[in-house]
Amino acid sequence: MSEENNNDVQNLPGVGAATAEKLVSSGYHDMLSIAVASPGQLVDSTGVSEAVARKMINAARDNMNMGFETGTEVMVRRGQVIKISCGCSSFNTLLGGGFETGAIVECFGEFGSGKTQIGHVLAVQLLKAYPNASVVYIDTENTFRPERIEQLARAAELDVEDTLSKIIVARAYNSDHQMLLAEKVDGLIKEQGKDVKLLVVDSLTAHFRAEFIGRGTLAERQQKLNRHMHTLGRLSSSNNMCVFVTNQVMSKPDQFFGDPTTAIGGHVVAHASTFRIYLRKGKKGTRVAKLIDAPNLPDGECVFEVVEGGLNDV
Ligand code: GTP
Ligand code: MG
Repeated sequence: MSEENNNDVQNLPGVGAATAEKLVSSGYHDMLSIAVASPGQLVDSTGVSEAVARKMINAARDNMNMGFETGTEVMVRRGQVIKISCGCSSFNTLLGGGFETGAIVECFGEFGSGKTQIGHVLAVQLLKAYPNASVVYIDTENTFRPERIEQLARAAELDVEDTLSKIIVARAYNSDHQMLLAEKVDGLIKEQGKDVKLLVVDSLTAHFRAEFIGRGTLAERQQKLNRHMHTLGRLSSSNNMCVFVTNQVMSKPDQFFGDPTTAIGGHVVAHASTFRIYLRKGKKGTRVAKLIDAPNLPDGECVFEVVEGGLNDV
């Protein structure tokens, strides 16, 4: 007989071996992941009826003893948050010390504003500070460059081979593939024992934008994107990982004052992101990062530049 495990999803009412397998393969490995899921998500990934999905969620919630916690307990949890340096002190300060785990951090901006560079820099900086951690890089635009990692690792005085071996790269060919890859990250952690502390999704929205064209398909796109954001949010909180996502901008022709650009993905992406940073090109090759949404930090700006060794203060 196999060992009884209270945390096993198979102990939930209405969950047999086949459903349990579907749950696990969709990333629902434990009670917590089900307790925080929505009925629709479980219906989508297992094909059970909504009533059964609700029962599963309620049972998982009872099992988890979820509910209120004291401020002290939240404080202890906050104490586990890691702040990943981007190697540039003014940028770190803007974010209260660095790119936080347990959160989705979104950078949006026009082409060449430095989004992909930040993804590369964070990967190397995380591995410098936490040599036992791993990075997952979901690359949708074929812009991940091991050569760039090599350069950055050298500048950080890290072993190049070792650094590259801790970055797990997956190329996503379309939005469904991208969503599937995100769902597989749990497996890397649970089955392969990787301590994934940074997940980069570069770009979060490009496939969605390319595949759903025209007004008629907008609702469907937003629904899918919403599901994807839920997966990313769940990953960030249940594994104390930083999910760094990049996003493009589109021009907003009706805006005459200020910067006439706005992020893709609308409210779905905006609400799901814990921190939002707007990047733009500044004078003389500099980049300006503007924090526009953060739970406990004032909005602000910093100026930096992309150099061979990473990001520099200006
Ligand atoms: P899109 O993906 O096209 O939307 O742009 P992005 O925001 O991802 O831009 P990316 O991060 O690729 O930034 C590219 C810019 O970074 C280039 O225009 C260069 O200015 C700078 N850059 C990239 N690599 C290097 C490098 O090795 N050295 C230096 N000095 N600058 C670099
Ligand atoms: Mg890019």
